[in-house]
Amino acid sequence: MSQGGGAVLVPGLGLGIVLVTGGLAFAQAAAAPPTDAQVKARVEALVGQMTLEEKVGQLVQAGGIAFGGAPEPEELLRKGAGSVLWVNDTRRFNALQKIAVEGTRLKIPVLFGLDVIHGYRTIFPIPIGMAASWDPSVHERGAEVAAREARAAGIHWTFAPMVDVARDARWGRIAEGAGEDPYLGAAMAAAQVRGFQGPYLGAPGRLLACAKHFAAYGKADGGRDYDPVYVSETELRNVYFPPFAAAAKAGVGSFMSAYMDLNEVPAGANPWLLRDVLKGEWAFSGFVVSDAIAVRNLLIQGFARDGKDAAARAIAAGLDMDMASGTYGQNLVALVHDGVVKQAQIDEAVRRILAVKVRLGIFEQPYADEVQAAAIVADPKSRAEARRAAQRSMVLLKNDKQLLPLKASLASVAVIGPLADSKADTEGSWMVFGHVPAAVTVLEGLRERLGSGKVAYAPGPEIRREVPSFFDDFIPGPKPPKQTPEQAEAALQQAVQTAQGAELVIAVMGERADMSGEAASRSSLELPGRQQELLKAVVALGKPVVLVVMGGRPLALGWEAENATAILEAWQPGTEGGRAVADVLFGDVNPGGKLPASFPRRSGETPLYYARTLTHQPEGSPMYRSRYWEGPTSPLYPFGYGLSYTSFSFANLKLGSPQLKLGAAVPVSVDVTNTGSVPGDEVVQLYVHQKAGSASRPVRELKGFKRVTLKPGETQTVGFSLGPDELRYWSSFERKWVQEAEAFDVWAGSDSTATLHADLAVVR
Ligand code: NOJ
Repeated sequence: MSQGGGAVLVPGLGLGIVLVTGGLAFAQAAAAPPTDAQVKARVEALVGQMTLEEKVGQLVQAGGIAFGGAPEPEELLRKGAGSVLWVNDTRRFNALQKIAVEGTRLKIPVLFGLDVIHGYRTIFPIPIGMAASWDPSVHERGAEVAAREARAAGIHWTFAPMVDVARDARWGRIAEGAGEDPYLGAAMAAAQVRGFQGPYLGAPGRLLACAKHFAAYGKADGGRDYDPVYVSETELRNVYFPPFAAAAKAGVGSFMSAYMDLNEVPAGANPWLLRDVLKGEWAFSGFVVSDAIAVRNLLIQGFARDGKDAAARAIAAGLDMDMASGTYGQNLVALVHDGVVKQAQIDEAVRRILAVKVRLGIFEQPYADEVQAAAIVADPKSRAEARRAAQRSMVLLKNDKQLLPLKASLASVAVIGPLADSKADTEGSWMVFGHVPAAVTVLEGLRERLGSGKVAYAPGPEIRREVPSFFDDFIPGPKPPKQTPEQAEAALQQAVQTAQGAELVIAVMGERADMSGEAASRSSLELPGRQQELLKAVVALGKPVVLVVMGGRPLALGWEAENATAILEAWQPGTEGGRAVADVLFGDVNPGGKLPASFPRRSGETPLYYARTLTHQPEGSPMYRSRYWEGPTSPLYPFGYGLSYTSFSFANLKLGSPQLKLGAAVPVSVDVTNTGSVPGDEVVQLYVHQKAGSASRPVRELKGFKRVTLKPGETQTVGFSLGPDELRYWSSFERKWVQEAEAFDVWAGSDSTATLHADLAVVR
């Protein structure tokens, strides 16, 4: 919709000034958020006028694409639906909005939601890569860019951040989160909420964020997406909840419940989870939306008898909005009339949703500006941010004989591998709904850097999923046919030949975008397809081989770690990914990312994480030298690990005092020195271990981190604090949060195997 006509100023109910142009309203940036009292008054005024049908409408989110024969959103909006998802077209947003604000009695605007996960037009690295930066400001700025672009297109609400802790790399959605650790995960969760929502909910150019999938979705049996989760309250509170609690504390406006059974009660209909913990203990004041079609699926899940039962149990559990299943819309009115559902439960849900709509400012600014929206492209400033984020996300895993950084004088390079020149796979997962990738691939990045003449390319055999992804249905156009075995063989030979003619080989291998993410779990973690076979043939040529790994999960790179000369984990690095890889390979940027999840040696090691408890026969003890007789149980690359083109040393781990009173905090400091010859980044990591207690504690737990940049020879003293927040835990023995007067180990260093140690005694 283009703006035309004169502007008229009307009061915006305390939310700023509204410009009415051409009959449609665009608000000027509200200078400040409304007060809680203003929001409440506005909500109560609306609720007081609403019929039961209108209230239930607000709890209905319509699917913008026909899903399972659901009605078109237009039809649901005419009946008063409060939200729509899976539309990504500004003109359609405005047409749909018009139905709500001009065609319904109370003119309550629709809330448009979409999965804006790691960018909208400018694509940042996937979240596990962003977490590998160990720099929350990277995530914050990425989310801010995503919000700006998406909001301009007319989107109000993103279903992000995903803050599920994931300790099993088979689970495809490990790509969407911050990895295995609750402390790192909490920092990244809060950063994304700040980035998406800005200084307050409703800040101009920002989105409503959604912490998902509450809770413990990442603990699926066997790493199989959607499978049941059995988890103790201890593990929930100590491991899976902290990133959600951090998102709530950062003011996230919405939560999404997880699909799966949580200890046999589906998370979306789990009153303990949603009412007792989230809305009770944590005093969360936003609203909870189900995952897509999850309310109806309570039947399939073998939990609810029928749609009525599903709706009644979900709303009773505290689930405020039904995403695209139609179950609330079809049943709640009758359920209230029949006395099965209490009116008060409906009122609570509608109040929460309306309060968010009021705070977002969409009453004042229901429409998007189509002219502005049409102009949204990956703008150069945003691309520069994305490049920086990608640079900071990369983790150098191996660098034999200091092969990297590469010399600009290289005469010829062979770039091989199925991911080397794929724009879609460089941008990564979640690029659905008509997005055309604008990525610079690794091949393009290297050609820009070295000149095309020096870079030969051959992709080798294709890789593809055995079972196609359901996301394929959203990608228009014909699908390329599968390579025949003969074509694959020819491609392999071609790649080997290309490598033969070059001074050095850069193999870009790993997983395609659709090999991780939703419904993209695996039972093995090796390089898929014939990639390792190609790599073996290339290594046999005796040339230096740099393996650039692209993908969404920790892969089992045991053979590669022995045989490639250098390995760079690049994740799915986004729009500027190829340039960022070239920046790092040629040393314009010194890599400083660290692994947010342990990398296994072999697939069968999963779930694998550093923060396990000790056992009576710890690894390396005389009786049990290893848990596996085939080899060590330690990870190939531990949590927190990552190399640099320089080296660092740690010294002077100091505690303000060796004794700490229960409830007090002690300052901790450590010196980190760049002992090499080039500037570089180190992530200083602080770990603790409680030596005894009412319950066994993990061997170590991350309790502080800071990424610093140091010049050669420079030393920095990095400070942390250890207090009740860091030293308390949920004790399964006591069945409550405890901080105990016990002895602690404290370590500081460059990864989770840090050896610089101090003792701390917590006393009464
Ligand atoms: C299902 C996914 O689990 C969730 O993460 C996503 O936000 C919704 N679909 C909406 O697309």
